[in-house]
Amino acid sequence: MEASRAHSAATVEFRHVTKRYESTHERAGAPAAVTDLSFIVPAGRTCVLVGPSGCGKTTTLKLVNRLVEPTSGQILLDGIDVATREPTALRRGIGYVIQQVGLFPHETVEENIGTVPRLLGWPASRRRERAAELLELVGLPPARYARRYPAELSGGERQRVGVARALAADPPILLMDEPFGAVDPIVRERLQNELLRIQEQLAKTILFVTHDIDEAMKMGDLVAVMETGGRLAQFGTPAEILSNPASEFVARFVGADRGLKRLALVRVAELPLRSPIMARVGEPAGPARARILADPFPYLLVVDAEERPLGWLDQDELPETGPLRADDAQPPAPLLDRRTTLKDALSMLLDADVQAGIVVGEDGRVTGLLTIDDVVAWLRTEPSEGTAGLDRRATDRLERAEGDRPATERSPADGEGTGRDDSDRPATEGGATDRLERAEGDRPANERSPADGEGTGRDDRDRPATERSPADGEPPHPTQEP
Ligand SMILES: Nc1ncnc2c1ncn2[C@@H]1O[C@H](COP(=O)(O)OP(=O)(O)O)[C@@H](O)[C@H]1O
Ligand SMILES: [Mg+2]
Repeated sequence: MEASRAHSAATVEFRHVTKRYESTHERAGAPAAVTDLSFIVPAGRTCVLVGPSGCGKTTTLKLVNRLVEPTSGQILLDGIDVATREPTALRRGIGYVIQQVGLFPHETVEENIGTVPRLLGWPASRRRERAAELLELVGLPPARYARRYPAELSGGERQRVGVARALAADPPILLMDEPFGAVDPIVRERLQNELLRIQEQLAKTILFVTHDIDEAMKMGDLVAVMETGGRLAQFGTPAEILSNPASEFVARFVGADRGLKRLALVRVAELPLRSPIMARVGEPAGPARARILADPFPYLLVVDAEERPLGWLDQDELPETGPLRADDAQPPAPLLDRRTTLKDALSMLLDADVQAGIVVGEDGRVTGLLTIDDVVAWLRTEPSEGTAGLDRRATDRLERAEGDRPATERSPADGEGTGRDDSDRPATEGGATDRLERAEGDRPANERSPADGEGTGRDDRDRPATERSPADGEPPHPTQEP
């Protein structure tokens, strides 16, 4: 995207940062929310903050955009202490995505995406163009989505709009707080892959929070494992953390199955794929039959004129003559993306109770086959040090060079979120508070009280936005700036 080159990504550095909230941490001996946190995220990398609930992940993110001020220490963006930056200006240069998305319910998707550009004084035509460009980027055709209201979107679609909005003014830094925590696993997998694809293209500096170690290993170039008190338990690449946990805590947190977890560090594209025996629908069955009988894998993949998979035909069911028909074929599930991790691929194969998954390119064409045996063979041969994660950048560059899939070929059909309850979140961390904070932006954090939020900890994500009353903490219109 031409606009993104103007703003390169920024380095994010935490230097001995400690945060105590007066209300909860004034007791002598109580751990701080964040304790002496130091790490550096190079420009253009994704760093995932992962750790159990309450370990200070959200606080760490909010320290970057000054929604929270440190008790001591510094946060530097490209070497400049955020404390010296004017908070409103600072926040306009930092995209922020949260689990509840916080879209303005009375505004269309397009207007929501234009929030920061509007604050920056962009003319309406430029805002519309930018919204359309971003909707394409996140896989929502603008013709269908630009004029909808948030209540008319599925959970996954709302999350995509949230990402588009965060990217609107092309910020060098993106903060993402459990962005995919509220959608079901299948939609989450797709959103994760799309974010990886977007990141290949935009190369922002991303701080991504999750409590899910698998998501951390999948999304992070770097992973910061945090433990209670906001202490850094380990900082490194996913492969380093899986192969060399720095402590008992990290070893337990990454899990006894960390050998298997290496599957999550490798994408389908990194394995040599088999070539299926394929034939186009309508082709004569005779020659296809001869080819399949000569191959140890007893299934013929029937494809359309564009080499998109239509279904499997068992060699025993192949007619001896006549044209090949797709009607008798078994559905070609599951379809794997080159970015699908081996862990997800294996799980999809086991779920579908099949031996092989078809890998399709971004145009839907068949690029290869992956079998359960291939995955198991990889697990056996790969050294337990698991260096695969270190090579991810190289793969990404390769994929980036191959260009991008047109948005029209992606299915926007997403299920609703599961509405999973977050009752372990502190009540003061309500989504409404986040929306307010982002919309208001300018009030120093110490002037805000927990009473600004809903404080009920109740999950209202699944209620249509139109049912929410202003008392729920509806954000003021973002143009209501001081
Ligand atoms: N606004 C706040 N006021 C007082 N205490 C808070 C506030 N936000 C978070 N905390 C406390 O700080 C600690 C870290 O919280 P948080 O950063 O939200 O953790 P996480 O995102 O990892 O679940 C917790 O003990 C939490 O209760
Ligand atoms: Mg949190």
